[in-house]
Amino acid sequence: MITRKSSREIAMMQEAGKLLASCHKEIAKRMKPGVTTKQIDDFVEGYLKKHGATPEQKGYNGYQFATCASINDEICHGFPRDEKLVEGDIVTIDMVVNLNGGLADSAWTYVVGPADEKTAHLLEVTKSALYKGIEKAQVGNRIGDIGHAIQTYAEKEGYSVVKDFTGHGIGPTIHEEPHIPHYGEAGKGLRLKEGMVVTIEPMINEGSWHSQMDSNNWTARTVDGGRSAQYEHTIVVTKEGPMILTSQDEI
Ligand code: MF3
Ligand code: CO
Repeated sequence: MITRKSSREIAMMQEAGKLLASCHKEIAKRMKPGVTTKQIDDFVEGYLKKHGATPEQKGYNGYQFATCASINDEICHGFPRDEKLVEGDIVTIDMVVNLNGGLADSAWTYVVGPADEKTAHLLEVTKSALYKGIEKAQVGNRIGDIGHAIQTYAEKEGYSVVKDFTGHGIGPTIHEEPHIPHYGEAGKGLRLKEGMVVTIEPMINEGSWHSQMDSNNWTARTVDGGRSAQYEHTIVVTKEGPMILTSQDEI
């Protein structure tokens, strides 16, 4: 079932989104060589607690951590761990914040130390792909319009789009209907309606889009060792256009 959220629910999710965005900004300051993703995860858990929120991912389907931390060729659902990050690593930190029952979900890819040209391009294209998708999240558009915009742009830039994981509706629970694929045909799929809250979260690969599952049964990584980047926002479809609940720009 696809639900449309009330203005009260949206206001609650917006508060969670603001906190999540501020948490990402704190993570950016801490992403340095020698730091571990376990330390980042501990920081996030403490930060959320301090602000009266909880990490919704912890305990979700048995997942053990506050964040997903996916390094280099890991596509998503990487486990935070004790290995020290080194200059040049790219790390996607993904989390869902629960603040008084309102949820928000946002992932961001960070570079450890300065980015070389190739890395900067991958990250720039992935972020732009997200915003190109968000632009299409308009009342009356179809879900395929979002994926089509993302896919055509990312492929034109020489990258591939992961097909095994999609964006999703979000509300009282992390994953709700509908799926939001980051590929597809314009004009196809379900029509977007006012009050739908969804995530758009393209995972963009340097090489093949195919993924393989690690033996931990959570972490997906590229089959060819190419790197994968991801940016994710939670957005509301409104009559005035897409409203980003997890924006880091105005805080
Ligand atoms: N934040 C993830 C997403 O964007 C949800 C991961 S669920 C977890 O869909 F259990 F793996 F954390
Ligand atoms: Co997420």
